[in-house]
Amino acid sequence: MFRATAETDRLDNETTLVAGAGRPSIRVHLRGLRVTEGHLKGCTRMAIPGSETESKIVTLRAEGLTKIYRTGEVEVKALNDVDLDLYAGEMVVLLGQSGSGKSTLLNILGGLDTPTHGQVFFQDQDITATDDTKLTGYRRDYVGFVFQFYNLIASLTARENVALVTEIAEDPLDPVEALKIVGLGERVDHFPAQLSGGEQQRVAIARAIAKQPAILLCDEPTGALDSKTGIVVLEAIERVNKELGTTTAIITHNSVTAGKADRVIYLGDGRITRIEENAERRPARELKW
Ligand SMILES: Nc1ncnc2c1ncn2[C@@H]1O[C@H](COP(=O)(O)OP(=O)(O)O)[C@@H](O)[C@H]1O
Ligand SMILES: [Mg+2]
Repeated sequence: MFRATAETDRLDNETTLVAGAGRPSIRVHLRGLRVTEGHLKGCTRMAIPGSETESKIVTLRAEGLTKIYRTGEVEVKALNDVDLDLYAGEMVVLLGQSGSGKSTLLNILGGLDTPTHGQVFFQDQDITATDDTKLTGYRRDYVGFVFQFYNLIASLTARENVALVTEIAEDPLDPVEALKIVGLGERVDHFPAQLSGGEQQRVAIARAIAKQPAILLCDEPTGALDSKTGIVVLEAIERVNKELGTTTAIITHNSVTAGKADRVIYLGDGRITRIEENAERRPARELKW
């Protein structure tokens, strides 16, 4: 059982979040104000109705992440003592020059790679200390990945590509529902070859989110697309973040996304050099449950 108590400066009464193991569900008590119940894998952002105050729940915490790659005599420190919290429901953009460690960080956060030193906590579990089976379970149940290349199966339709994932997921969205969220409700029976690059990438996003992951990690999802198509793809990711409340991290060079993210995290030489909070971030009262 996972239990977290959020602190606010507005409430005298307790504010409690409870998420059960296995099939986490959330119960938020704002005694005297409002009781809201929801259900999400992981957690969700809590907002005090009518208040600017907003308590942030940490979904993913990285502490002292260092990654050293050794190839023969050559040693590369891809990450150097990185600390980072990802808050439930937020959208962050990772920016940095090529080779600054962005992919390495994303892969470690998503359990695709392990750090040389340091830890990653998902909810209160240290995923870096778990064995391979548990790490696979973490990836399978809680993390959705989107990469630059779509990796769709050419002989399957959009709906069937998404269904490959939903068939093994615990509480999936209907594949058509997932495709609608990314704006492809009219393309469900198209094969990849009958779709544009941007549409194929949106199928890949639908596939990543159809299992309702707690975290969506996107590594240069628009890297192979022209800027106009890239924006459509980024809007699809933004819609997922808003409608499903999925904690989202995107590596991108697109300044439009950087402007819409809650936070922009700059990496240089394997370190976080700066974190900016966007002024454009929506105030708590506009958050929908
Ligand atoms: N599997 C690997 N083996 C050796 N070096 C690697 C490996 N993956 C990444 N690197 C090195 O680590 C550094 C960071 O890489 P990466 O995280 O891919 O950066 P970015 O995504 O910001 O371009 C680079 O210098 C890269 O060459
Ligand atoms: Mg990269």
